[in-house]
Amino acid sequence: MTRSLNVSNSAVAKSGGLSRRAMVQVSTAIAAAPLVGCATSPSGNMPGSDTVEGEPNPVMMRMNLQVNGVAYPLTIDGRTSLLDALRENMNLKGSKKGCDHGQCGACTVLVDGKRINSCLTLAVMHEGQAITTIEGLSNGEALHPMQTAFIKHDGFQCGYCTPGQICSSVGMLAEAKSGMPSHVTQDLQVATSVLTDDEIRERMSGNICRCSAYPNIVAAIRDVSGAAA
Ligand code: FES
Ligand code: FES
Repeated sequence: MTRSLNVSNSAVAKSGGLSRRAMVQVSTAIAAAPLVGCATSPSGNMPGSDTVEGEPNPVMMRMNLQVNGVAYPLTIDGRTSLLDALRENMNLKGSKKGCDHGQCGACTVLVDGKRINSCLTLAVMHEGQAITTIEGLSNGEALHPMQTAFIKHDGFQCGYCTPGQICSSVGMLAEAKSGMPSHVTQDLQVATSVLTDDEIRERMSGNICRCSAYPNIVAAIRDVSGAAA
């Protein structure tokens, strides 16, 4: 930086005035000065960084997560999403990463019985809560009724969205049963888990299936919805 300025000043002095070339050199050097001087450390990295240029140091945090009834003591970067913690730190690969942006629902899990997109939340926010993934829905070899219904109605093709669809539908039926209305609910006074196909489609609209297995997914959920009644 200093060298650039000296060269530029000397160019100006020798020319006896500001030649176009010198003007460009001086302007460029001055414009770059605050950026270079303030933003980088002697190593060339951002302040506080000794790993990847431009990335702050990870802040490792200790936490305990309760997943499918099992306690997982973890030491992970505080910025880790719940989805990444499940998949990369707990080796629970059932929850899928479709978009990592809250748009596809493939990562849906249940937290204290409520469905959430695990890609949109930090793992550290869920200490002390009961997290249920697709691996925890069954009771040993006995499948959850929703899992059985998806098999019975062929509610999938490639299966990538299926863990999210199943976790979401389990949480969704609980929401409906508790009286939570949807955008198409006709009677706000009646809480029921018996849902019309329109209700099922609306309430499951956050779960995308690229194979378009929607008719079979709706049939599976309708089946369980009726059985729940
Ligand atoms: Fe979370 Fe798509 S991966 S919503
Ligand atoms: Fe393939 Fe849904 S079954 S994405």
